[in-house]
Parts: sequence; structure tokens; C-alpha cells
Amino acid sequence: MNRIAVVPGSFDPVTLGHLDVIDRAAGMFDELHVLVVHNPGKTALLPIAQRVSLLEQSIREAQLHDNIVVTSWSVGLLVDYCTDVGASVLVKGIRSQIDVAYETPMAIVNRDLAGVETVFLLPDPAHAHVSSSLVRQVASLGGDVSPYVPPAVANYLRAHSD
Ligand code: PNS
Repeated sequence: MNRIAVVPGSFDPVTLGHLDVIDRAAGMFDELHVLVVHNPGKTALLPIAQRVSLLEQSIREAQLHDNIVVTSWSVGLLVDYCTDVGASVLVKGIRSQIDVAYETPMAIVNRDLAGVETVFLLPDPAHAHVSSSLVRQVASLGGDVSPYVPPAVANYLRAHSD
């Protein structure tokens, strides 16, 4: 049986914390789909296609597991994508009690809707404080985000800063 899992998120932009969770999840399943999803509750910095491209480049450059595919999803429920590709598990990183409170209702609803389970991974402590929103803020104010993001993202943000 081919065990397929999905790591969904905004990835706006992908951080070193995301890459850590993605690689560890890829080691647990036959196939791992990293799914860039539009989150209407957030103001986006990067277009979806750019986030996909930076994820692909970062995964390649960091030489993560080779069973990872990156794609995006903009129409319908996340669990519809899971059903379409035969994935039965979602994987999310959990950094704090705030993440637990945010993720728990979504995990329960996704299981109610389609029987899709959510597995939570604790972060590497080195990345526990890193978030995309922090990266967006530091980058927008001209700060150095290279300790928090893959080189491809740091280069992109540097090249596109005003
Ligand atoms: O990185 P984020 O912004 O915390 O990711 C949140 C995301 C995109 C995973 C979440 O908003 C989501 O699951 N959106 C899909 C819409 C959906 O299926 N909603 C109903 C069940 S929660």
C-alpha cells in the first residue's frame, strides 16, 4: 500500500522550520505532497506560483528525501485534494500552544469531513521560534532573514526588496 501524506500551508515564504518538518514527514511516508494553499485569512506577500517555485528549489538544494512533490490548491476543501490523490494523512508542525489551539479544530473538521487524520510533529528546537509572518516582517523592514529561511528564499527576498 502506497502511504501518501500531505503537508499543507501558506508557505509565504517557506522557512527552515517548514523544511525540517517536510523532510521528517517524507521519511515517514511513501510519498509526500507539499501543498501550497491560499489562506484567505492572511495578507499574502508572494504569489502562489512563486511559493511553489521557492519550495521546489529549496527542497532540491537541501537534498531532502526524493519522494516529495510540490503543488498548489486553490479551489475547494483541503480534504478534497487528499481524496483526489489518495492521501489519508495531513502532517503539520506544532511550535506552541497557540499552534495547538489553531490546528486542533481544523484537524477534527478534516477527520469529520473525509476521515483524513492529522499528525503533528514537534519542531527542531533550533527553528521553534521561526514563522513566515516573522520573516515577512523582518524582510519588509530591511532585516537579514538568512538565519530563518533557505538560501533560495533569502536571495529572492533580497533581490525583491525595495
Ligand atoms: O500555513 P497556514 O496559513 O497556517 O495554513 C493553513 C491552511 C492553508 C492549511 C488552512 O487554512 C487550510 O487547511 N485551508 C484549506 C481550506 C479548508 O479545507 N478548510 C476547511 C477545513 S479546516
